[in-house]
Amino acid sequence: EKVKAFAPATVANVSCGFDILGFALDSLGDHVILSKNDEKVLRVISIKGDGGRLPLEADKNTCSIAIRAMLDDLGSDQGFDIELEKGLPLGSGMGSSAASAVAALVAVNELLGNPYPKNELLPFAMEAERAACGTAHADNVAPSLLGGFVLIRGYKPLDVIKLSVPDNLTCTLLHPNYQLNTSDSRSVLKDRIPLKDAITQSGNVAGLVAGLFQSDYALISRSLEDVIAEPYRASLLPGFDEVKKAMLELGALGLGISGSGPTLFILSEGKEKHEHFVQKAKEIYDNLGLSLKAYFSRINTKGG
Ligand code: HSE
Repeated sequence: EKVKAFAPATVANVSCGFDILGFALDSLGDHVILSKNDEKVLRVISIKGDGGRLPLEADKNTCSIAIRAMLDDLGSDQGFDIELEKGLPLGSGMGSSAASAVAALVAVNELLGNPYPKNELLPFAMEAERAACGTAHADNVAPSLLGGFVLIRGYKPLDVIKLSVPDNLTCTLLHPNYQLNTSDSRSVLKDRIPLKDAITQSGNVAGLVAGLFQSDYALISRSLEDVIAEPYRASLLPGFDEVKKAMLELGALGLGISGSGPTLFILSEGKEKHEHFVQKAKEIYDNLGLSLKAYFSRINTKGG
């Protein structure tokens, strides 16, 4: 018996919500095909779509790391053969490692007769994030698993809340053709935050959450500001300031770094402006000698 599961790409942080907010994208994501084996081992037998760059070793691959965490919790020594189909670019900031881990967990849970309700798979996916970047952040794995817009109110204990999503909220992703590792993008951040920045950031998080619940696009727009991570990470992203200014002039509700970058996300109301965003962004990145892949997405409400 084989089970195939999908988990969507995600935008983490969403500007003001560093490590605590994320949303899932429809149409983009990873698939995992899973079957039991009799050898009591986890084997990653094939990976497609990664250009040969992801590790097949079970202790390094986020699929098998997540499955191992779940099997340890269950006290099971069941073996599995894992096939991974990457639909997401690596090191792009679209939650690539998270989508693989979540798809693997959804598949193994189904093959074992669903011993866990979906939300209880989250800690296992977070172990895969810890292995991938050094921190067990949940702002990619939670929306990838649960769908929609998700708030991680607290980590100890884990407290995850699904937020409302306005019907016509859309996302354009701008993915310039270079890679950034989350661990490198985290290393430029500061340990301490000045009080005035903490006040600005919490005002924005509260405003964004209220804007989502009230479908108030102007409030969402005013709240898409990040004074904690973006000012430091922007220097790792060629063209960031120019692209941001141009997209806001074209009517974006906001633009921020998707997760730890280099992909940028734009939130808008509806699809009309998407092509304008892409055309202008292409021009800017062209001048910098960078090619660009762009995606349009609505918010995925189902998750993995
Ligand atoms: N919150 C994480 C970070 C997301 O910004 O480092 C990584 O995708």
